[in-house]
Amino acid sequence: MIIVDDVRQTDRRRKPAMLLLPKCLYEAHYKSITIHYKRHTERMRLIIFSLSYTFLIWGIFSSLTPTYASAEINVWPKPTSLSWPHPQAALLSPGFYISSPNHPYLSPAVNRYLLQILTEHYQPVVEPSVNLSASAPPLQTLAIIVADLSAPLHHGVNESYSLFIPSDGDTANLTAETVWGAMRGLETFSQLVWGNPSRVPVGLYLWDSPLFPHRGIMLDTSRNYYPVKDLLRTIGAMSANKLNVFHWHITDSHSFPLVLPSMPELAAKGSYGPTMQYSPADVAAIVRFGLEHGVRVLPEIDSPGHTGSWAEAYPDIVTCANMFWWPAGSEWADRLASEPGTGHLNPLNPKTYEVVKNVISDIVTLFPEPFYHAGADEIIPGCWKADPAIQSFLSDNGTLSQLLEIFVNSTFPYIVSLNRTVVYWEDILLDDNVKVDASFLPPEQTILQTWNNGPNNTKLIVSAGYRAIVSSSEFYYLDCGHGDFIGNDSQYNQPPTSGDSGNGSWCGPFKTWQAIYNYDITYGLSQEETKLVLGGEVALWSEQADPTVLDARIWPRASAMAETLWSGNRDESGMKRYAEAMDRLNEWRYRMVSRGIRAEPLQPLWCIKNPGMCNTVNPFV
Ligand SMILES: *[C@@H]1O[C@H](CO)[C@@H](O)[C@H](O)[C@H]1NC(C)=O
Ligand SMILES: *[C@@H]1O[C@H](CO)[C@@H](O)[C@H](O)[C@H]1NC(C)=O
Ligand SMILES: *[C@@H]1O[C@H](CO)[C@@H](O)[C@H](O)[C@H]1NC(C)=O
Ligand SMILES: *[C@@H]1O[C@H](CO)[C@@H](O)[C@H](O)[C@H]1NC(C)=O
Ligand SMILES: *[C@@H]1O[C@H](CO)[C@@H](O)[C@H](O)[C@H]1NC(C)=O
Ligand SMILES: *[C@@H]1O[C@H](CO)[C@@H](O)[C@H](O)[C@H]1NC(C)=O
Ligand SMILES: *[C@@H]1O[C@H](CO)[C@@H](O)[C@H](O)[C@H]1NC(C)=O
Ligand SMILES: *[C@@H]1O[C@H](CO)[C@@H](O)[C@H](O)[C@H]1NC(C)=O
Ligand SMILES: *[C@@H]1O[C@H](CO)[C@@H](O)[C@H](O)[C@H]1NC(C)=O
Repeated sequence: MIIVDDVRQTDRRRKPAMLLLPKCLYEAHYKSITIHYKRHTERMRLIIFSLSYTFLIWGIFSSLTPTYASAEINVWPKPTSLSWPHPQAALLSPGFYISSPNHPYLSPAVNRYLLQILTEHYQPVVEPSVNLSASAPPLQTLAIIVADLSAPLHHGVNESYSLFIPSDGDTANLTAETVWGAMRGLETFSQLVWGNPSRVPVGLYLWDSPLFPHRGIMLDTSRNYYPVKDLLRTIGAMSANKLNVFHWHITDSHSFPLVLPSMPELAAKGSYGPTMQYSPADVAAIVRFGLEHGVRVLPEIDSPGHTGSWAEAYPDIVTCANMFWWPAGSEWADRLASEPGTGHLNPLNPKTYEVVKNVISDIVTLFPEPFYHAGADEIIPGCWKADPAIQSFLSDNGTLSQLLEIFVNSTFPYIVSLNRTVVYWEDILLDDNVKVDASFLPPEQTILQTWNNGPNNTKLIVSAGYRAIVSSSEFYYLDCGHGDFIGNDSQYNQPPTSGDSGNGSWCGPFKTWQAIYNYDITYGLSQEETKLVLGGEVALWSEQADPTVLDARIWPRASAMAETLWSGNRDESGMKRYAEAMDRLNEWRYRMVSRGIRAEPLQPLWCIKNPGMCNTVNPFV
């Protein structure tokens, strides 16, 4: 199993480009190869016999153990390939600056990073033992070279970059295909700088590019509200982890916080109040902040389920609104909602489509993002069945699935007509009771996001020809394991001898960073199927989260996914790298905390200060 897994991970990894290396580096690389000769005898013979630069470079990047002392520098997520044959550092000149082309989003990023690099002075918990080079001059300049300044921040945009920091010159080069790749490289450079006065590793060459183009966090701002500053802080932290999609689950049954220009009543009546809304100006600020950080803002307006809040403004288009979610004495199958907070849009009411189309059109105006997430999860039969018009539709031999098909057939083509690719939760195709025929969802315009049954449903989606975004609740749901939020639940009334019998939320237990890091989102897929997996998203549903716990719920667990989707969870020999990942993640967590992200700790500080002492060297059985 592991071997099959491996091959897929490797296949997914793109071969790096044939880069033009500075002349001095050829020698450096050559030396670094000879250092590792003993460990890689077979491959080395091959390489040394070949004097072709091309082959030499290929050999270095594709399969060798990294030629650097990994403990000395810490970049999270780990770069695809990094060569640092003679670990040495130079001082960062106090007059250090970054030269870059002018660009509406790159230029603000450059100014931000320059300030951060000059003032951060991060002191690693474990001081790198690398010495200052006697000969390297202080680093004066980071020069950014971008090939294509016009590529927009869309799915699949090229995020690769290379970084060369010379040991005998005062200018480092950051070369990228797009400004978005340049932003990834700026982050890497910022993580390489440490101490006071600031030091930077020199004689270092790095080439980097993500395994998966879609690397995201989903945040629910309907169950509980988050002020704009919390969303911006989250997007900033995402960028630092090279995550590139903020999937904003804006609305749900509980509140409708988004003020839409053509439908202002939805938020006026459906939000938690005037101080818990997002104005169009807020959205513009969030989208712009995302662009300046290389993070797409992908809006989700969940419907036709999860729409109770719409009923405050438009009661006639919502079925079962404001009813008790699970009537006394009824079976679970007859509940009206999957959790307290009822309401579904009524597919049979023409007025529904007037409202929905205005909402869609406003969203498309507010968000430049080419994907539109239309939700469509968890249609609960009892809610639709509560409506008289639907009752007669059903008694005329109509089915619940036909109702959903009517809804999709009346909204999907409209979204597509506005030049958007539609993302739905997997339920629309895979739900046991209410789902549409695949003919309503052309794969060219449809992406499905999976959350149930781990790898099994990813397989179902891609084998049906759809592109998939993986958010398996068994691995990627960050809210799980905090107990349930239903009041008066008899499972919490147990003899006092039995410990915590409330065994957690429906998706408990808590998803540890190790579980997240260990997950392979393409597990069990063929090579062709693997190509349809765009990437993954960790998800924070907010029944039990709000700004007071936001950072600690997300970080550093989202960092664990960020690395697996950027460069994988295995080292060059195919071994899972969880052991050394913990040391690096610890340092990264401390740096995030110093940057104002209140990420939760993974270990006692003592463990980090005493490397290796908290490990086990025995297998646990
Ligand atoms: C990104 O651009 C680099 C440099 O031009 C190229 O080598 C690489 O193949 C591109 N990557 C992707 C995924 O297109
Ligand atoms: C950095 O890039 C510039 C412009 O492309 C080039 O002239 C210079 O040689 C590069 N320096 C190094 C050390 O690669
Ligand atoms: C740094 O310098 C000290 C003192 O010269 C030396 O003992 C040590 O080995 C050097 N460390 C490295 C990583 O080169
Ligand atoms: C519904 O189906 C039943 C059984 O097939 C049939 O007898 C009945 O005429 C149908 N009713 C309508 C309105 O089509
Ligand atoms: C879908 O909608 C179109 C246009 O409104 C209509 O012509 C077509 O019959 C509908 N298809 C189904 C299967 O309901
Ligand atoms: C549609 O969106 C794509 C990006 O997804 C863009 O390149 C194209 O120009 C858009 N077409 C129109 C007609 O707006
Ligand atoms: C996935 O499918 C396998 C084989 O049918 C089954 O044993 C396993 O329980 C399923 N896993 C989940 C999480 O449903
Ligand atoms: C709690 O649930 C029980 C049934 O399990 C019910 O009899 C009781 O009224 C409920 N109490 C409250 C306060 O809702
Ligand atoms: C919680 O306990 C119930 C009853 O024992 C069991 O059915 C359920 O599977 C458990 N859930 C989890 C997530 O362990």
